[in-house]
Amino acid sequence: MNMSHSKSALLRQFASALAAVSFMAAPVMAAEGEEGAHGGGSHHIERQDWSYSGIAGQFDRPQLRRGFQVYKDVCSSCHGLNRVKFRNLVQPGGPEFDEEAVKALAAEWPNQIMDGPNDEGEMFERPAKLSDPIRGPYKNEKEARAAQNGAFPPDLSLITRARGVHNDAAWYIHVPMMLMDVITGYAEGGSDYLYAILTGYEEPPEGFHLAEGMNYNKYFEGNQIAMVQPLPEGGAVEYEENAGAKASLSQNAADVTAFLAWAADPSMDQRKQLGWTALIYLAITTLLLWLAKKRIWARVKH
Ligand code: HEC
Repeated sequence: MNMSHSKSALLRQFASALAAVSFMAAPVMAAEGEEGAHGGGSHHIERQDWSYSGIAGQFDRPQLRRGFQVYKDVCSSCHGLNRVKFRNLVQPGGPEFDEEAVKALAAEWPNQIMDGPNDEGEMFERPAKLSDPIRGPYKNEKEARAAQNGAFPPDLSLITRARGVHNDAAWYIHVPMMLMDVITGYAEGGSDYLYAILTGYEEPPEGFHLAEGMNYNKYFEGNQIAMVQPLPEGGAVEYEENAGAKASLSQNAADVTAFLAWAADPSMDQRKQLGWTALIYLAITTLLLWLAKKRIWARVKH
């Protein structure tokens, strides 16, 4: 754990060295950005410190549990999570909740499963089981739009992969930055975006025209979003004593973001572990082959 931390610290140093280079070119970027198509002027989205970022990063179990709690208590009243099954919440690499607790949770989940037809030929709703998806409140997009003033709350299963951060930098900065992200294994633009949206609500600036039923968000494209601020200042969701963190807006936002990042990539932990195992295996094999070669050729003059 510590080792991997110092490793990612080193990588981060690399990244910030590069960021320093791009900072020198900031005036160029700003000049290009100002006339961009962002309407009310968009804000730069900061990178956050995610436990799961980079080639060595792993999900933080207690954080995934808190994040699910935020999803359940707040987001699930408008958004579904249809690609995640209840049983995924039990499996290794995720929040790893107790199976019995998740069974009970599924049975009580308010958005039931459409099943059927029964013997009378009717479709019917029944409580969810472990093998069922985590459904949102709406049966289809039309119902969702009708309930949400015409706006559509997207399914959140893949949202951290479906969104990212625009990079307005000139190509000669953009390209090295991209290469750096490849080297450090940085792929958390979607998480940074989500966190920014959840924490980006504020009063609209003087003279900004906010359409009926819309909310000002400094990070959302065009700065008007139909979603009302889901996590109020001060934190919407209280955590239990032993949850590993105190509730606050930024903590709630970071936790639900981490949970949704896991939902979009549930086997990330195992994949990275396998990657390291493979690298170590290859390193040892290389060493053995090199020693063997030295030995075989030891008495041959060349
Ligand atoms: C009261 C209903 C409601 C709740 C609660 C809610 N949302 Fe939304 N959300 C919406 C609506 C409506 C939209 C569509 C916004 C738009 O298109 O302007 C949306 C859009 C989004 C988007 C897409 C933004 C984009 O880039 O297009 C994300 C991500 C999101 N919500 C995350 C969340 C999270 C995370 C939570 C829980 C912390 C949450 N929402 C709670 C109604 C809700």
